[in-house]
Amino acid sequence: MSGTKAAAVIGLGVGAMLITNVGDPLDSVGSGYPTTWSQTAGWVGAPERAVLCIVAGVFLLMLSWLYRLLFCPLELLRSPDDVGYIAEDGRTRAQAANEVRRRRKVGDLPPVYPNGWYRVLDSHLLERGQVKNVTVLGQQVAVFRGQDGKAYVLDAYCPHLGANLAVGGRVLESCLECPFHGWQFRGSDGKCVKIPYAEKVPEFAKVRAWPSCEVNRQILVWFHCDGEEPQWTVPELQEITTGGWVYRGRTEHFINAHIQEIPENAADLAHLAHLHTPGIVSGVDLRYTNSKTWEFIRHDWKAQWEPESEPNKHCSQMLVKHKITVFGCHWSLLDVHVVARQVGPGVVFLLFNHSFLGRGVIMHCVTPVEPLLQCVSHTIFYQSNIPPVVPNFILTAERIQFERDVMIWNNKKYISKPLLVKEDSAIQKHRRWFSQFYSENSPRLKFRRDTLDF
Ligand code: FES
Ligand SMILES: [Fe+2]
Repeated sequence: MSGTKAAAVIGLGVGAMLITNVGDPLDSVGSGYPTTWSQTAGWVGAPERAVLCIVAGVFLLMLSWLYRLLFCPLELLRSPDDVGYIAEDGRTRAQAANEVRRRRKVGDLPPVYPNGWYRVLDSHLLERGQVKNVTVLGQQVAVFRGQDGKAYVLDAYCPHLGANLAVGGRVLESCLECPFHGWQFRGSDGKCVKIPYAEKVPEFAKVRAWPSCEVNRQILVWFHCDGEEPQWTVPELQEITTGGWVYRGRTEHFINAHIQEIPENAADLAHLAHLHTPGIVSGVDLRYTNSKTWEFIRHDWKAQWEPESEPNKHCSQMLVKHKITVFGCHWSLLDVHVVARQVGPGVVFLLFNHSFLGRGVIMHCVTPVEPLLQCVSHTIFYQSNIPPVVPNFILTAERIQFERDVMIWNNKKYISKPLLVKEDSAIQKHRRWFSQFYSENSPRLKFRRDTLDF
């Protein structure tokens, strides 16, 4: 039960107790003395009790909220229609989102699945002996943790008759057993090692095993359109492995855009001074973020973006200097310098190093679910001796700024030949850098022709 629910239940319980505890009716029977009306009826004082119980409920709710803020990891999972769409004229958000998806022009898109490493799950979401069905790069995969503690990723559909191995499949040692007829597949290479009713297992009986790794408490898979082996590794952060930095929460969003739009943000330096300048208190809805009410609080950004050189040409870095001004006064204590290191198309490490707020990292991972649907997770690990309220605040601030971008991405068109000025030059540089993740056979979006030709 969540803290809020628990507090609500306790509050209601206290309330009910106070309302029903109106004295024993027998007290007034047979005593021979007239009782007051209040004692007879037992209801005078009820309004006071009701008020008391509401106050108690609210107090408990606030306590529970405070407890979660101070001591619990922040976990916020947004569904695809939750953020970034404008629901007007009596439409629901889901209707607005569907309309945008149907009507918008997508533009002349690059290939939709770049080669690289992609996060499929956070490690703590997969226990020993557990299997999960995940959609990644338009494929269904079965992610499971063997009894040996290792995580494996297999194509989800059984080659025998097509059952989904992750839906009812059983983990046996380091194999996954199909729920339909019990064929068993080895996690390491996908080979079928047992058919319970057959004398012999055919040599060719196997499912695709995805190259995978588990690093920084995340499970990732390697995708290459030609099936090539991994060309780089995901760097390990020793602070996470050794437990110096601990898990402090995560957010997850689904975005309707081409994957490239999201990392390109790092090289789009001009948008920082426009989209991300209003204080986070003014929220995420771009119709209102420039409201006069919150004008007194501003973010100030200085940033630069550069690709790295060999042997790390698959990496790039954005250096960000962030300041806050309140009524024009600069609060230097809240100056934050962040290094955002991108590794391949799908993983970014946002490294924080602050004199008194401590050190930590947000891992920002983009995984294509479908050609124009990206799952973006932000997972924060932070110095264990810093109270969770600090990483909670950092993750919340990041989430608010990020959701402003989501509103842009969900509604925009990809422009292959953008109209840029000299100050936008990093965008072209970023596109050239990102093109290394496409190869000749990279999958492209195929359009369904649903209009009549005349
Ligand atoms: S469908 Fe998997 S064993 Fe038959
Ligand atoms: Fe942005």
